[in-house]
Amino acid sequence: MAKKILLIVLVALFAVAPALGSGKKKIKSKGTTAINMVKRGKDLYRQYQCSDCHSIDGQGNLDGVSLDKIGKKRSRQFLIEQILDPEKHVENNPKAFKGDTNLMPPQQLEKAEASAIADYLKTLK
Ligand code: HEC
Repeated sequence: MAKKILLIVLVALFAVAPALGSGKKKIKSKGTTAINMVKRGKDLYRQYQCSDCHSIDGQGNLDGVSLDKIGKKRSRQFLIEQILDPEKHVENNPKAFKGDTNLMPPQQLEKAEASAIADYLKTLK
C-alpha cells in the first residue's frame, strides 16, 4: 500500500515537473528576446550607417542630429514611423520638428528592422 502511494506521488511529480520547468523557460526566453531585439537594433543602426547623420554618446556625425536621450523624448511608435517614412512623418508632425522640412532620406527598412532599432533607441535615456 505504502509503495503504491509512493509510486503515485512519484508519477505525479514527474507529470508536474516539466510543466513547472517550461513555465520558467517561458519567462526567461521572453526577457532574452527583449534583450536580443535591443542588440539587433544596435547592430542594424550600425549596419544602415545611421551614424552618418546621427550621434549617440559622442559617436557618429557630431554635426548631425543627436539621438542621445531620444528614448525619453519620443515614443516607440514615433521612432518607428520616423525610421520607416521620414518624409511623411516629419510632414505630419511639424510641431515635433519645429516646422523644419525633412532632411532624412528614406531608409528602406523592413518593419521588423525599424521596430528593433526603435527598441534600441528607447534604451537611450
Ligand atoms: C542623410 C542623413 C540621415 C541618415 C542616414 C539618417 N537620418 Fe535620421 N534624421 C536625419 C535628420 C536631418 C533628422 C531630423 C529631422 C529631419 O530633418 O528629417 C533625422 C531624424 C531622425 C529621428 C527623429 C529625431 C527626433 O528629433 O525625434 C530619428 C529617430 C532618426 N532620424 C533615426 C534614424 C535612423 C535609425 C537611421 C538609420 C536607419 C537614420 N535616422 C538615418 C538625417 C538622417
